[in-house]
Amino acid sequence: MNIRKAKSAGYCFGVNKAVNTAYEASENSNEKVYTLGPLIHNVHVTNELKKKGVSIIDDLDDIDEGTVIIRSHGVGKEIYEKIKKKNLKLIDATCPYVKSIQNKVEKYHNKGYTIIIVGDSDHPEVKGVNGWCENKAKVIFTKEEAQNFKTDENVCVVAQTTIIEALFDDITNIIKDNCANVVIFNTICNATSVRQEEASLIASEVEAMVVVGDTHSSNTKKLVEISKSKCDNVFFVETASDLDDAIKKYNNIGLTAGASTPTQLIEEVINTMDNNMVDSFEKNIEESIKEIREGDIVEGEIVMVDHNEVTMNIGYKSDGIVKKADFLYDLMEDLTSKAAKGDKVKVMVMKMNDGTGNVSLSKIKVDELGALDEAKEKFDSKETVKAKITKVVKGGLIVDLGFIKAFMPASYYDVRFIKDFDSLLGKEIECRIVEFDKQKNKIIVSRKILLEEAYKERKAKEKELKEAAIAALEIGKEVEAPIKNITNFGMFIDLNGVDGFIHISDIAWKRVGNINDLYKVGDNVKAIVTELDKDNYKVKLSVKDLTKEPWQEFIENYSVGQTVKATIKNTTNFGAFAEIIPDVEGLIHISQLSHDRVNNVEDAVKTGDEVNVKIIDINKDKRKVSLSIKETMDPPKRKIERNKLYHKEDSNVTLGDIFGDLLKSE
Ligand code: F3S
Repeated sequence: MNIRKAKSAGYCFGVNKAVNTAYEASENSNEKVYTLGPLIHNVHVTNELKKKGVSIIDDLDDIDEGTVIIRSHGVGKEIYEKIKKKNLKLIDATCPYVKSIQNKVEKYHNKGYTIIIVGDSDHPEVKGVNGWCENKAKVIFTKEEAQNFKTDENVCVVAQTTIIEALFDDITNIIKDNCANVVIFNTICNATSVRQEEASLIASEVEAMVVVGDTHSSNTKKLVEISKSKCDNVFFVETASDLDDAIKKYNNIGLTAGASTPTQLIEEVINTMDNNMVDSFEKNIEESIKEIREGDIVEGEIVMVDHNEVTMNIGYKSDGIVKKADFLYDLMEDLTSKAAKGDKVKVMVMKMNDGTGNVSLSKIKVDELGALDEAKEKFDSKETVKAKITKVVKGGLIVDLGFIKAFMPASYYDVRFIKDFDSLLGKEIECRIVEFDKQKNKIIVSRKILLEEAYKERKAKEKELKEAAIAALEIGKEVEAPIKNITNFGMFIDLNGVDGFIHISDIAWKRVGNINDLYKVGDNVKAIVTELDKDNYKVKLSVKDLTKEPWQEFIENYSVGQTVKATIKNTTNFGAFAEIIPDVEGLIHISQLSHDRVNNVEDAVKTGDEVNVKIIDINKDKRKVSLSIKETMDPPKRKIERNKLYHKEDSNVTLGDIFGDLLKSE
């Protein structure tokens, strides 16, 4: 037999307070103590109080002295006046919620409002509330009564604390339609609605429902009514002795109790069902019920969740309760969004009886134990864990590993000195558990160790790459690599981790003034290895050696007498320099620029001109080339000075005398 007891079963806050007050008064008062009417609707409690000297009176006229306890239902204003007038001592155990209704009623009555109390006119609470508006309130208990009430006056509506909310809503809707100006206070006590809702929920999920309480208690009767609307098999009992054998046939039973039902009575009913009502079949089932002890970890199923606690079926005769603080780390979170009916959850048994007959459970304890085991595993395996920095404390940081908190000493954060730890708050990092002591619940983590290892790993990898790179190099090998750095005297290229150096003089055959005019960092450069020291990872390279030296190429391919195209690169007073092939220039002396006399070099050629030149001399020792434009051209023909010839005609001078060699054939 599985008994699901409602958490809200039994004394509400107001009744609990009144009963405790009465017991205290019975022990502390030297004179007679009376309650004005039964303290609660439960004869078992009132009989016990009677034995302790707390008697019930129905009218103040019945006594002339002693202490009067006003019960949780409260009384009208005139009763307070009468107690005062009779010089009796007063202990006011009116429930604070009821007191609040009385205050509202008095206030609106004084403002001239018609007071409507939605409730049972015979109920002591309603009578008492009415006593705060000179007993002029209209008490409405049915929708028909509400339909019949119409007024143009201002109306203030309050509720008996224990009526069903749906009825109150229906009645107030009718009043709103029928009356001009209505102020409505839903004064139904939360304890009542919570108890009723829980009863409704449990009743809808069980085979049979037991309601424990006094048969005269209106709130208990309402629980019976609600239970019957959800469950076909409702048993209304005052005590365990009222339990019917018919209940034996049900395995899944719910239980609730009215606000005036003492815990002791509820437990007696549960125990009786547990011990005496089960038949052999049920006993077998009982045997299968888990034996649990405090400290056990059990898996249970969530059967109900509200904002404050989770109710679980843990296979034990009583339900287990996990308070919010035992379920969630972050109390700002909403419990109902973190737990759902049907969820299977592992919990630790904290107390076999939490005072209300339920087992007190903790999920957090299980999480913490699991977290410690997980932390131990991660410690053993040296696994990297993710953490969030949550707090800066003296000497370090508190980090949240997601499953547990740990400490990181300040020096374990970085390889560098960190000045401002506060700026790290909220940061997510990776670290390793470097110290673990389950007994002391001590977990130390380090981020620095990961940084150091990563650095070492990077260095080892670099070394490996470097070794492979240097092994692959040979003198004379042609490579292509990006420029890492440029200096005044050369540049460094990255040969897969090995620095290769190219001196400025090895960049080109001609003189290089500024390397930056030719290259920039990142450019890929082709070069040839010229020097290699594998042991010390030293490599020298040359770009210029990729090509033949221009002079060498020149003398191999050009000779004196050859006419070639050249480009004027520069002019001087004495001639012009013309480039024959890249980086090989020859001088065209001013006298070689033309057959005509040239006074100014620039009159004959200009920088950039492309000209035909004849190589007229190559001085291999001095690496000098002489060129001539003049010799690529025919010499100009001289003009014959006819007049001169004419005057000489008569002379004996021949043409040969005049032109001499010019007339000789070559
Ligand atoms: Fe008070 Fe609510 Fe109980 S009004 S007496 S706490 S049911």
